Amino acid sequence: MLAIFYIVITFLSGHTSARVLRHWEDLGLLTADRSPHGHRRYGPGQVTRLYRALALRRTGLGLSQIAALLDEQDPDPVTTLRAHVAELQEDLRRRGELYDRLAGVLASLEDTCLTDSGEDQQAQVLMKVIETMTMFEQYVHGYQTEENRRLHDQAGTLVELLHGDTGYPPGTTVLEVGCGVGAQTITLAQRSPGAVLTCVDVSADSLTEARRRVTAAGLDTGTVAFMQADVFDLPHDEGPLSAGRFDHVFVCFLLEHLPRPGEALTRLRAMLKPGGMITVIEGDHGSTYFHPDSEPARDAIACQVTLQHHAGGDALIGRRLYPLLTGAGYGEVSVSPRQVYVDATRPDLVDGFIRKTFTAMIEGVRQPAIAAGLIDAERFDHGIRDLHRTTEPDGVFCYTFFKATATT
Ligand SMILES: C[S@@+](CC[C@H](N)C(=O)[O-])C[C@H]1O[C@@H](n2cnc3c(N)ncnc32)[C@H](O)[C@@H]1O
Repeated sequence: MLAIFYIVITFLSGHTSARVLRHWEDLGLLTADRSPHGHRRYGPGQVTRLYRALALRRTGLGLSQIAALLDEQDPDPVTTLRAHVAELQEDLRRRGELYDRLAGVLASLEDTCLTDSGEDQQAQVLMKVIETMTMFEQYVHGYQTEENRRLHDQAGTLVELLHGDTGYPPGTTVLEVGCGVGAQTITLAQRSPGAVLTCVDVSADSLTEARRRVTAAGLDTGTVAFMQADVFDLPHDEGPLSAGRFDHVFVCFLLEHLPRPGEALTRLRAMLKPGGMITVIEGDHGSTYFHPDSEPARDAIACQVTLQHHAGGDALIGRRLYPLLTGAGYGEVSVSPRQVYVDATRPDLVDGFIRKTFTAMIEGVRQPAIAAGLIDAERFDHGIRDLHRTTEPDGVFCYTFFKATATT
């Protein structure tokens, strides 16, 4: 009989090696009896427990969580499982993003004429995948704190230029998508007292920070709600993010990061009530010029544009707002260029825009640009020095944002 159980356990464990079973024993997840010769023996109760542990393991739960569940030591199994489902959801989102980015690279490779053959072509393909992953990792993980600071400085510096004509009447419902750490949310809420804002982002960490900032700014948290959502999952079938619930949709610096901005705009149109209005703000790095002019500085900027393109985004998207919005079925599309012009008479913009926003953003791609072989370190650093040079008393810097409004 015991031999049969031993066979069952070998069958159940499949690729579970003796070493793994020993490890599970060490953790108290499984116990085994010993034969007189010291061999492990499993009785019916132990086989059932192993069967259950393997089933739970396939859900991705950790071994200590499984042990606590099987021993009925977990005080709140439902909460444990809910937390696990949330982790799986986040994992799926990240994998989806990775999928989109790699699919974007492949599409861009198909568009690009790769004339070289053999090893050269393989090297190009590999290099593009490496660039993409470097940008992806940097954006998703390490880059965010710096990026958040930059967005915050940018939002503060450019409030009048970008938002002077934005304000939503009391009682209207506004959906902000890709709210990040709330840099624009605060301005929107301050300029729209009584409007009800729902702000979504895919990043749970950014939402936590956005909530903190809105509270710290003393805003009425009763009229600003934050939710985690992916624009490509909108509208939801039911609930606060279902179709046709909003008078206004607001997006700022979101489309430039998306692999399919047209699809995102179509999904956002579905979120609006009939006659509702969308506002979109995006930059366009091709609109950058400065004095003294510098080829190395332009090369460093081009690295950012190339890397963002390979990562599935478009740093030149400002100029595409009109075709994107009309293509997504919106009417009354109106785009207005908002030029930032900076010289020594605007020391706030010299610091807030040239140094802390634009140059900081270009400096942020130093590592992937060099790693990808787009530029050498010396030329990149020369370019950055020349961008800083434009902050001197005779320097001038110009950049154009594009703000569009449109109706359903
Ligand atoms: C450059 S930040 C802009 C944040 C904010 N709108 C601002 O202007 O400060 C882009 C934001 O879009 C979010 N995002 C990226 N892809 C998204 C998606 N598929 N759905 C929703 N948000 C997304 C990112 O997490 C990030 O917070």
